[in-house]
Amino acid sequence: MIKITKSIEKVLERDAKVIFSMKRVPYPFVADHGDGDYVYDIAGNKFIDFTSFISVYNLGEDGRIASRKAAKAQIDKMMHAAFTDFYAELPVRFAEKLVTMFPKGFGRVFFSNSGTEANEAALKFAKMFTKRQYVIGFYGAFHGRSYGSLGVTASSKTQRAHFGPFNSVIHAPYPYPYRFPYGDANECARFCISYLRDTILERDVDPEEVAAIMIEPIQGEGGYVVPPKLFMKELRKLASEHGILLIADEVQSGYMRTGKFLALDNFGVEADIYTMAKALGGGLPLGATIARSSLGDIPRGSHGTTFGGNLPEIASAEAALDYVKRNMKSLQSNVKKKGKMITDRLNEMKDDYEIVGDVRGMGMMIGVELVKDKDSKIPAIRESDDVLVEAFRNGLLLLPCGKSSIRIIPPITSTEADLTKGLDMFEDAIKKIDAQKRN
Ligand SMILES: Cc1ncc(COP(=O)(O)O)c(C=O)c1O
Repeated sequence: MIKITKSIEKVLERDAKVIFSMKRVPYPFVADHGDGDYVYDIAGNKFIDFTSFISVYNLGEDGRIASRKAAKAQIDKMMHAAFTDFYAELPVRFAEKLVTMFPKGFGRVFFSNSGTEANEAALKFAKMFTKRQYVIGFYGAFHGRSYGSLGVTASSKTQRAHFGPFNSVIHAPYPYPYRFPYGDANECARFCISYLRDTILERDVDPEEVAAIMIEPIQGEGGYVVPPKLFMKELRKLASEHGILLIADEVQSGYMRTGKFLALDNFGVEADIYTMAKALGGGLPLGATIARSSLGDIPRGSHGTTFGGNLPEIASAEAALDYVKRNMKSLQSNVKKKGKMITDRLNEMKDDYEIVGDVRGMGMMIGVELVKDKDSKIPAIRESDDVLVEAFRNGLLLLPCGKSSIRIIPPITSTEADLTKGLDMFEDAIKKIDAQKRN
């Protein structure tokens, strides 16, 4: 059982006074050390991590040790090389390695410091390449909190309230099969495509004016929503028909989380521009925008950022990527095997507990949607928070998403024993909250 000490309470009090409010989980985890499969708070409480600290620590202990070592060595050599203005070999070498992880013909990279910046660059480049003004995004999407990305983001009104107006973005429905009332997953896909084609591109905007469609291959913040393959294939066709660029935001779904480097590869579809961040930096802040070489270049000086290509973060990212390349086969089979093990166990919970409405995901990017009951499917918002708190008390870190979903995203190298322990803690929390609801 986790102890909440005075020292923990004190940090929360000080935080409330000096830090602008942020989203934060409904439980008081105050990090101290251990960016491995276990983490420890400042009171010495030990936790199993089912969050990868928002999909950053995708790789296990070995991967992280390599990143730390490389970053430390680079810090001692040189930290900042002003890559926007000067040249450096390390970011060039890393970019050369990175593009080999993308489909043939992807050859140009822009480095930034975060997911939102990677998306800002993708949006600007798409407009620059096509000389068109509009962008299509999706309801439920999360692409970041800076203005361009926030305009495409539509996952919760709190993130947008009082910040508008935004740029020329039109939102379309994202296929959410669990909540589609008129048929199965493929019917849901067809509905969303026809809405896009027959309403948005007929009534809202001329396709000739649309620069890009920006999409998460699996919606993350929006609730770990997995679209049907048919949807992605049709979306790709529709974009190509009209010369619209497809931007895949792989910030959360990418970097081996689904068992492939790119989540979009699971759909047999290629984008024109990809964005990555989170796990890419191996624990340090790094964003990247990667585009098809045939799209060309941007005019000199039209985009850049002081810290993009910062050397320790690139050194850390290179070590992480080398680790991925060296261990590709075992990482892939690990994600497949462990992902199935987790999903099987969660599906058993779905059979046993009324509040578990849906279990979905790909590889080790798994979401559990909690509902008041299986018939009404009313989102169990309070209960979802209660489960997070209960799990925390048991020693398990979890993150929410969507209205009432919970992410199950442990490091992809977690051991079966740790995963089982974590799932036991999760089930205990579900059982308790489900029983409270029934009584
Ligand atoms: C899919 C996706 N895109 C973009 C972002 C924004 O990334 P950052 O917080 O690094 O700006 C996130 C962050 O959660 C994300 O999940």
